[in-house]
Amino acid sequence: MSQRRPLIAGNWKMNGTSSGGAALAQGLVDRLGKGTHGFDMLVCPPATLCAPICDIAGGSSLYVGGQDCHAAEKGAHTGDISAAMLRDLGCAHVILGHSERRADHGESDATVNAKTKAAWAAGLIAIVCVGETETERDGGKTLDVVGGQVAGSVPDGATGANTVIAYEPVWAIGTGRTASPDEAQAVHAFIRSKLVERFGGEGDTFRILYGGSMKPGNAAELLALKDVDGGLIGGASLVADDFWAIAAASR
Ligand code: 13P
Repeated sequence: MSQRRPLIAGNWKMNGTSSGGAALAQGLVDRLGKGTHGFDMLVCPPATLCAPICDIAGGSSLYVGGQDCHAAEKGAHTGDISAAMLRDLGCAHVILGHSERRADHGESDATVNAKTKAAWAAGLIAIVCVGETETERDGGKTLDVVGGQVAGSVPDGATGANTVIAYEPVWAIGTGRTASPDEAQAVHAFIRSKLVERFGGEGDTFRILYGGSMKPGNAAELLALKDVDGGLIGGASLVADDFWAIAAASR
């Protein structure tokens, strides 16, 4: 039995306006209630909704996070937001280096590394995303790619308290295709071994989330894997019942 507490994280991506976002967050707060649960629950709404969702989550155990932040503390970066701005609203986490940001905005490992340090400086927990494309997997390059991303994107100074890793095979995101339990565990164990190689015993304390078409129907078998410490969920996190069912499967 792992000592690591599962983290069930919803990445809403570019979805949701005020009323729907508020209803979704409220539905989760209501389900969390005052009880204790065997998992941590996090939602990462679009930046426009972070403030109202932080207000709704206030006083509950629901964590709220951003989907990205700039590497700089502040300044002339039109359209960007800083880690301190997210923290100011009440966010506790920020997703960094998602494959959609790497693809849409050309984010490199160096960029993600710098953003991670900015997140820590503001008191946020960084959720650093890694994962191979289908071509890379078919070419037998999965571990090389993922190992390189972990080495380059995770700065020195990372701990299990300030950093979470999310393994999201790009071919499984939004496609309905999930990594098989064997495929997922193999990559998670590899990431774990790299963290232990670099950070010693601390490497065992990092939570490594799986992401990519996680649903109520496949969550239990993925979340039961030795080195899978939760999920980063896109589509299914937009429906409170589904997201809650995934969380319930982590117990
Ligand atoms: P889906 O769950 O929609 O496949 O998205 C996964 C993801 O990219 C979460 O960050």
